[in-house]
Amino acid sequence: MGQREQWGTRFGFIMAAVGSAVGLGNIWRFPYMAADNGGGIFFLCYLFALLTAGIPIMILEFGMGHKYRGSAPLTFFRINPKWEWLGWWQVLVCFFISVYYVVVIAWSLSYVMFSINQAWGDAPKDFFFGNFLQLTSGPFELGGINTQILLPLALAWIVAFVSIYTGVKSGIERVAKLLIPILFFMVVFIVIRGVTLPGAAAGLNFLFEPDFSRIFDYKVWTAAYGQIFFDLSICFAIMITYSSYLPKKSDVVNNAFTTCLTNCSFSLLAGMAVFSILGHMAFTQGVAVEDVATAGVGLAFITFPAAISTLGSAAPLFGILFFLALAFAGITSLISINEAAIASIMDKFEMGRKKATIMYTGTAAVCSLLFATGAGLYILDIVDHFTNNFGIVFGGLIQVLLMGWLFNLNTIKDHVNPISDFKVGNWWIFSIKVITPLVAGYTGIMTLINDIKTPYAGYPQDALFWMGWCVLIVIVVGGVLMASRKWKDEQTLVKGGVSFDK
Ligand code: ALA
Repeated sequence: MGQREQWGTRFGFIMAAVGSAVGLGNIWRFPYMAADNGGGIFFLCYLFALLTAGIPIMILEFGMGHKYRGSAPLTFFRINPKWEWLGWWQVLVCFFISVYYVVVIAWSLSYVMFSINQAWGDAPKDFFFGNFLQLTSGPFELGGINTQILLPLALAWIVAFVSIYTGVKSGIERVAKLLIPILFFMVVFIVIRGVTLPGAAAGLNFLFEPDFSRIFDYKVWTAAYGQIFFDLSICFAIMITYSSYLPKKSDVVNNAFTTCLTNCSFSLLAGMAVFSILGHMAFTQGVAVEDVATAGVGLAFITFPAAISTLGSAAPLFGILFFLALAFAGITSLISINEAAIASIMDKFEMGRKKATIMYTGTAAVCSLLFATGAGLYILDIVDHFTNNFGIVFGGLIQVLLMGWLFNLNTIKDHVNPISDFKVGNWWIFSIKVITPLVAGYTGIMTLINDIKTPYAGYPQDALFWMGWCVLIVIVVGGVLMASRKWKDEQTLVKGGVSFDK
């Protein structure tokens, strides 16, 4: 096996890791989750989740990738050959996420163009579902492929493809170093203008005022912990892969803190950007903010366009900035999701980067067309629910249980402490061994019970079976099958992992 690629600079690595973490999850999911789960209380729970799960797991994954220098399957294989399947489980989660995630980026790119003349007119909801998505009446009624999305979809794939094809340093790092600072300035600009609009304070109050009556509501805690995993790109192969490209002398703990804190500050900024403008819209319409805030996809592609239209001559600028920010945030995350899978293929099959990128991206691009059909939104919603709530959460649960209880965590601690300014200690071990398994287990089981009792979002059972449960079966069985294939030279692989540390 040749020399592993490396990041060029520490700043480049941080930009790539932040680029992975900051994504669609921060800009449209976070603000809505906060608003729907008690505002400021959600925020406190989210911070607690960050400290007890987000940062500890980030340190763990950075430590694992840095010490064992492999994609997720190779890293798990080097830790214990019997655990390789978990790496593939996480890679398959990446595959299912990437094929729908790219479509949301394509929608954002389309909305950049629509913002120029506010093509959604007075009816953003009808425009989004009807004119734009051409939504059919159910998940099995595919309709045709929506040709309007094809061009932006191709563009998103091409950017991801070129970034990965050209390598870790010349491609991924360079794109992240360019896009992340631009993204940051765009969002800061929206916030500065947004908070000075009439009515903005009501929007921010809605987002941040804590509703203390919900402190014992398990749903708020479940939402906060659920958000942390997807938001930080942890427990689905990405951060292990990215840290495997770190040079030997790298401050692992500091990098993990920086990535987590930058990501969460960005969520905060995005929340302020969205809710200050929604506050302004509520103000101009003379209604309460809760009457204009809607859920998930609707917030970004229905409510926000309506809010932008209330900004008069500034509307095109705000629209373009917001949707471009969404697309940039999405692209850098998409790159990381694909890289986690491509690096695994390269490691396992000893395949060159170029060939692996062409094969993987080509396959994923064809599969993503399913989400560009008239039923795309339904399928996306189901696949997203199952991969996030079960694929990531249960994959993460198994990871912390294996690493916490069947592996000696001191091995990672002794690896990261000598090279890091901040040292990890008992709080870190306790979080990985006890807090995270308890919370991830509880969260996953509660959602599972809920889904068994009530079909998710009222979809027909057969749609949930084929598009949800079967996706999970593919993830688990596929993981085991991939791991059952032998590596080319297992002895060298294991030695390679250990010798790096010596
Ligand atoms: N962390 C990425 C996001 O939040 C996947 O969208």
